[in-house]
Amino acid sequence: MTQHTDINKDTLPKHVAIIMDGNGRWAKKQSKIRIFGHKVGVKAVRDTVEGAAELGLEYLTLYAFSSENWNRPKKEIDALMELLVNTILDETKTLMDNNIRLQAIGNLEDLPEKCLQNLNSTIEKTANNSRMTLVLALSYSSKKEVAQAVKSIVKKVQEGELKSEDINEDTIQNHLFTHNIPDPELLIRTSGEQRISNFLLWQIAYSELYFTKILWPDFRRENLFEAITNYQKRERRFGKTSEQIEKENA
Ligand code: IPE
Ligand code: IPE
Ligand code: MG
Repeated sequence: MTQHTDINKDTLPKHVAIIMDGNGRWAKKQSKIRIFGHKVGVKAVRDTVEGAAELGLEYLTLYAFSSENWNRPKKEIDALMELLVNTILDETKTLMDNNIRLQAIGNLEDLPEKCLQNLNSTIEKTANNSRMTLVLALSYSSKKEVAQAVKSIVKKVQEGELKSEDINEDTIQNHLFTHNIPDPELLIRTSGEQRISNFLLWQIAYSELYFTKILWPDFRRENLFEAITNYQKRERRFGKTSEQIEKENA
């Protein structure tokens, strides 16, 4: 089993993002209802967050609820929102004890009132924590995020605040929900699915992708460490040749 001591601290990714998938299939395997899988999935969240902080990651982003997930049966959505409210309440103390700051990305205004209140209150309480930033993607759609960025850029151009010829990659980046967060070097998806499901499309332009068959409720910090050791064995070339990279690292 991979321990955090096996990991080279000099080449740690700053930011790891995870698509937490497979709760429903995990529950089905135990002949339980889907929401049971979501409940057990909270344990995986806790362990992964602690492991990430212990390792020294600066940012951990967890995809918890997509805009498309609003199309699920109402019963499941209600149960997920209740779980979210309770988890945020229960975990605030652990976040404070571990010096972890909470942030959220997504169309948060779509969340139920109570959920949004708790979320904002924990974001405020943890705002000065500095060990790691935990980013929750909630009611998140990457395509909507880019569309909103374009909208606000156009508005600035119309109001004379910005010249259209000055628009570049940084302009777009600066108008995304993640404007104050570096792009993830590593993206993990659990459950064996190999797709992105509308997550951080712009931000993962050069991320390393890691897919594992483990269903989210079974995921633990050791699995995160394993993904990171796998990442550390890769050569990130960013369009250059291997020889150039070797020379740069010599
Ligand atoms: C991930 O597990 C959690 C959410 C998307 C909220 P799923 O609920 O998608 O589980 P599967 O993919 O159906 O097994
Ligand atoms: C992606 O998982 C969203 C989250 C993990 C929150 P889904 O289970 O909703 O994705 P698809 O529908 O299989 O692509
Ligand atoms: Mg799924």
